[in-house]
Amino acid sequence: MARQQLLPVCAVVLVIFSLALTCSASTYVVGGNSGWDISTDLDSWTLGKRFLVGDVLLFQYSSSHSVMEVVPQDFDGCNMSNPISSSSTGNTSIPLTAPGDKFFVCGNKLHCLGGMKLQVTVDDNRSAAPAPAPAMEPGAPGSHPRPSTKSDNPSSVVPSIGFVHDGSVSVVVVFLGFMASFMWIASV
Ligand SMILES: *[C@@H]1O[C@H](CO)[C@@H](O)[C@H](O)[C@H]1NC(C)=O
Ligand SMILES: *[C@@H]1O[C@H](CO)[C@@H](O)[C@H](O)[C@H]1NC(C)=O
Ligand SMILES: *[C@@H]1O[C@H](CO)[C@@H](O)[C@H](O)[C@H]1NC(C)=O
Repeated sequence: MARQQLLPVCAVVLVIFSLALTCSASTYVVGGNSGWDISTDLDSWTLGKRFLVGDVLLFQYSSSHSVMEVVPQDFDGCNMSNPISSSSTGNTSIPLTAPGDKFFVCGNKLHCLGGMKLQVTVDDNRSAAPAPAPAMEPGAPGSHPRPSTKSDNPSSVVPSIGFVHDGSVSVVVVFLGFMASFMWIASV
C-alpha cells in the first residue's frame, strides 16, 4: 500500500534532481572582477576553468573596448578586418553553443596586440561523450545540450555529471543512487 504511493513520489524527485543537474549552465564574467580589460591577465583567468556547451561568457568593459569573435587565423595577428561577430555595448553576453575553440579579441588592435584576447575551449562531455567532436552526428547526445528527454533515464546520465563536478554534486549523486535502489526494491 504505502510502497505504491511512494513510488511515483520517488520518480518525481528523481526527475526534478536530474533536470536541475542537466540544466545547470554557468555564466562566466570574463576576467572576473577586473572584467574584459587590457590590464586583466586573461590567461590566468582561463586556467582551471572548463567551459561547456550551454555556458555563457559575459564580457563587461569600458567604452574604450569592444568584443570581436574572430577566426583562429586572425587571432594571433589581431586581424579585425573580418570578425565573426562584434559588439561594443559594454555588456556583451556570448552563449557557447557548440564544442570547439573560440577566439575573442578587443576591437582596438593595439589592445589586442597588448594581450587583450581570449581563447576558450568549449567541451561537450556533459553527457559522458568521449570527445568534444566539432562535427556532431544528428541525434548524438551532445547535439542537444538540455533535452528534457534526459529524464527518461536519469540514472545513466547523472553519475557521469557528478563525477566531473564538485563534491556537492557527488552528494546528490549518492542520494540519487540511494533513491534508485529504493525504487528498485520497492518495485520488486
Ligand atoms: C586580414 O584578413 C583579411 C581577410 O580576412 C585579409 O584580406 C588580410 O590580408 C588580412 N590582413 C593581414 C595583415 O593578415
Ligand atoms: C549584462 O548582461 C547580463 C546578461 O545579459 C544581464 O543579466 C545584466 O543585467 C547586464 N548588466 C547590465 C549592467 O546591463
Ligand atoms: C572532456 O573531453 C576532453 C576532450 O576529449 C578531455 O580532454 C577531458 O578530459 C574530458 N573531461 C572529462 C571530465 O571527461
